[in-house]
Amino acid sequence: MPDVDEVNDGKNFRINLPAKSNVFFLKGSNSLDWGMKNRLARVFNPITGRTVMLAFDHGYFQGPTTGLERIDLNIVPLIPYADALMTTRGALRSSIPAESNKAVVLRCSGGQSILKELSNELVAVAIEDAIRVNAAAMAVQVYIGGQHEHQSIRNLVSLIDAGYHYGIPTLGVTGVGKELVRDAKYLGLATRIAAELGAHFVKTYFCEKGFERVVAGCPVPLVVAGGKKLPELDALTMAYKAVDQGAAGVDMGRNIFQSEAPVAMIKAVRSVVHQDETPERAFELYRSLKNERHSAGEDLHLSASRTPKVQ
Ligand code: 5RP
Repeated sequence: MPDVDEVNDGKNFRINLPAKSNVFFLKGSNSLDWGMKNRLARVFNPITGRTVMLAFDHGYFQGPTTGLERIDLNIVPLIPYADALMTTRGALRSSIPAESNKAVVLRCSGGQSILKELSNELVAVAIEDAIRVNAAAMAVQVYIGGQHEHQSIRNLVSLIDAGYHYGIPTLGVTGVGKELVRDAKYLGLATRIAAELGAHFVKTYFCEKGFERVVAGCPVPLVVAGGKKLPELDALTMAYKAVDQGAAGVDMGRNIFQSEAPVAMIKAVRSVVHQDETPERAFELYRSLKNERHSAGEDLHLSASRTPKVQ
């Protein structure tokens, strides 16, 4: 038993100094519980308020798409340069080293394929499994205006409710399918609906006209998808415009893993997102990193034998 006589009363209460109360750094997130905030602070960098999410969940409806034939070879070497990994539980368990210690945004909706109607999804992961793999957030597609709009909204709200039990935030992913136009009016509608229904952050697309209004109308952070593979300078320009107009980062897949030099590209994307580098300077960085590897005689396509140590 400890000797109570030895215990000194604290004296330094700094009575005249009010206790600090923090304002959480992410838009619309101040009223969340500690666990939710802590997980969001793993997805978003608390210093810049932004994130580079590496998206490689495409296989859940597209199968082995170009650049994702071998997640162990194509994606694992990129992990050190991402803030968060957007992936399925199948890819995570089979191919991602548990030591990677990066925030996982777990794809939790699915149930269709490119051969069928895309909006026909269900909740494809139980909350217990999201907890089991230590997910920092769950991602679910919402198809506003899609054939199965109502069902996709039900998927979103059921995951949000389950996530509240355990302090796991939910990413609402605006799925546009093939037929819907990605303009500010549509994206403003879809992102706002996802946020109002409780999504803690929302993934959308960049649009050339009116993107600032989409950001302003969404009360929680927005991240932009990369979309189809573009020339590297165009993809960096899109990322630059998106963060310049208020996006809290990117959730980028094909424009990184389908690049000729994926590590150089993700580093260039990071420089735009976290250092406000201009697209031209980021492209210069991309080119010089790519050339360094060329002159070192390295294959630009990644191989497991030179996988960098994952931090
Ligand atoms: C698939 C997704 C992808 O994660 C998302 O589209 C981002 O990837 P990309 O930059 O390749 O568009 O949600 O449904």
